Amino acid sequence: MNSLEEIAQAVLSCTACPLHQGRTRAVPGEGPANAELMFIGEGPGFQEDRQGRPFVGPAGQFLEGLLSSIGMTRDQVFIANMVKCRPPNNREPLPAEVAECSRYLERQIQLVNPRLIITLGRISLARFFPGESISRVRGKLREKDGRDVYPVMHPAAALHRQELRSAIIQDFQGIPAALEQARQRSPAPQVAPPPVPEDEKPPEQLSLF
Ligand code: URA
Repeated sequence: MNSLEEIAQAVLSCTACPLHQGRTRAVPGEGPANAELMFIGEGPGFQEDRQGRPFVGPAGQFLEGLLSSIGMTRDQVFIANMVKCRPPNNREPLPAEVAECSRYLERQIQLVNPRLIITLGRISLARFFPGESISRVRGKLREKDGRDVYPVMHPAAALHRQELRSAIIQDFQGIPAALEQARQRSPAPQVAPPPVPEDEKPPEQLSLF
């Protein structure tokens, strides 16, 4: 899979785990190939399964509001999920399903190569920090295998509980600073300086011998 398009095509015809049997549409994920921010959720819900796009239901509306609170829109970021097909009745994906589906997410991470990964909820947190508790690490920039990761709660969990809602709003406020820190940690590759035009070159030293 050498492009995001190839990954999406592979996801759409994937039958690697039993989740494909219950899907209406697989949800590969979407966003610019050069996005600086990648959000990783859990898996498609009812609306996502119908539309084939990530975060388009109530959790998605909340996510868009959170993005707008930091001056961003969803088309500026890459949005992916741990599993690309909806688990039955929105149950959590099983470890075996996550493992089978990881080939797609891992390749998406490699190709997009985001500056900062935002994990949404426990399941995607576990991809980077297995066994870590979300309440301990949320809203803090951490590094894992050379990648900058900023865990937040899942917007669906925070949607209807006021105290969690304030927490996730607060965590999103920290994203611009985390992104800036991530940029400084791994600066963009230096572009070679343009060649000096001939007539601006210093005169060559004349040799007397
Ligand atoms: N919840 C997720 O984790 N992912 C989606 O795409 C939608 C809801």
